[in-house]
Amino acid sequence: MFQLFSKKNIPSDFSFLHTDLHSHLIPGIDDGAKTLEDSLQLIARLSKLGYRHIITTPHVMADLYPNTPDDILSGLEKVRAAVANKKIDIEIDAAAEYFMDEHFAPLVEHDQLLTLPGNRVLVEMSTLNSPPNLFNDLFRLQTKGYQPVLAHPERYVFLKEDFRQYTRLKDYGCEFQLNLLSITGYYGKPVRDIALKLLKNKMVDLLGTDMHHERHAASLEAMAADKSMMKILADYEFANAALSEKVEEIL
Ligand SMILES: [Fe+2]
Repeated sequence: MFQLFSKKNIPSDFSFLHTDLHSHLIPGIDDGAKTLEDSLQLIARLSKLGYRHIITTPHVMADLYPNTPDDILSGLEKVRAAVANKKIDIEIDAAAEYFMDEHFAPLVEHDQLLTLPGNRVLVEMSTLNSPPNLFNDLFRLQTKGYQPVLAHPERYVFLKEDFRQYTRLKDYGCEFQLNLLSITGYYGKPVRDIALKLLKNKMVDLLGTDMHHERHAASLEAMAADKSMMKILADYEFANAALSEKVEEIL
């Protein structure tokens, strides 16, 4: 049974989430951490922010980052070894953030996907234009037994134009993963406004850091220290912590 995790007081860090499921912490394979040293610094800061488990999600994008499961998992092994060596107290796994381009459908057909717990697949698209086969791709994922999770729904310009599109995506069975920093205005006021509206309408399933670099780490630290921001999180329930329960059940 999938349990939601709630908190009674205003949190001062992100420990109530336990697991972060969106980040770019495998060095040199996307636009996130550039070196192993970068990765270690960002991971140490996530640990200090209260996270106990990271499922990092490198981009898989045919043109820019054609990462295969092997690329990602061999990178993960290096990061895990370095984290153990530095004695950072955090568990690390990897999945991916799939861009819904023309190369995505074959990956789904051939089950070449790295998934989050619960057979979840983290997907993204252009922030400007809807992919031509958006609903087909989402439907196909589900008929293959996957649960689609849309990364940062608040950031897509073409969805924000008509809020009913969010309802349609949810009706299609898509889960929403909000970026924590969207709430602070890090990506601008229009993104913040939609993030708050999605929260208010209880349409957000999961929260992610989408951590790429030091500026994200610093902004998350500032957010954690800001009671007015953290109070917003205290008003809702998210399924992040339940993802780790799921991993433990499987093991
Ligand atoms: Fe991302």
